[in-house]
Amino acid sequence: MKHSKSHVFVSRLMKFAATVVIFLCTVRALTTVAVEVGAAEQPTTEFGKQVFEKRCSGCHSINRAKEGPPLAGVFGRKAGTVPGFSYSSALKASDITWNEANLERWLASPESLVPDTDMSFQVGSADERAAVVVYLKSLK
Ligand code: HEC
Repeated sequence: MKHSKSHVFVSRLMKFAATVVIFLCTVRALTTVAVEVGAAEQPTTEFGKQVFEKRCSGCHSINRAKEGPPLAGVFGRKAGTVPGFSYSSALKASDITWNEANLERWLASPESLVPDTDMSFQVGSADERAAVVVYLKSLK
């Protein structure tokens, strides 16, 4: 009789321990998911800089003209207005002031936003577009 009581106690104890372990794993899994979702919603400037270096720096520098115009201060600037850069007439006539929404459209498809532009390059990934726009915004 005594033996069987302690047996029940041990088995309850093990069930309790298992419940605690499962509970801790669930908390940990949920926390990890929350951290990842947060990271995806807020693209970091660091990732944007990497995208810029990989995809844009062949044609753009921050402070000097290459095949494309310099991009420092582009956010909030009127399109096609860096003095001395020879823009397409299309971009000069576009009457766009660069903001999040039109930069996003521009990078998805320059030709759709400004037909006959000289920039023939698109960024296919929405994550990369969002990140590089955050980076452009940080360039003073
Ligand atoms: C193949 C060369 C090339 C690549 C790659 C390229 N661009 Fe351009 N970009 C240009 C050219 C050329 C222009 C000028 C377009 C015109 O005059 O119509 C331009 C213009 C721009 C403008 C408008 C600037 C202004 O002063 O109004 C922005 C913003 C821009 N590019 C951003 C980017 C970003 C961000 C990337 C990378 C994701 C990129 N570009 C990749 C060639 C390129």
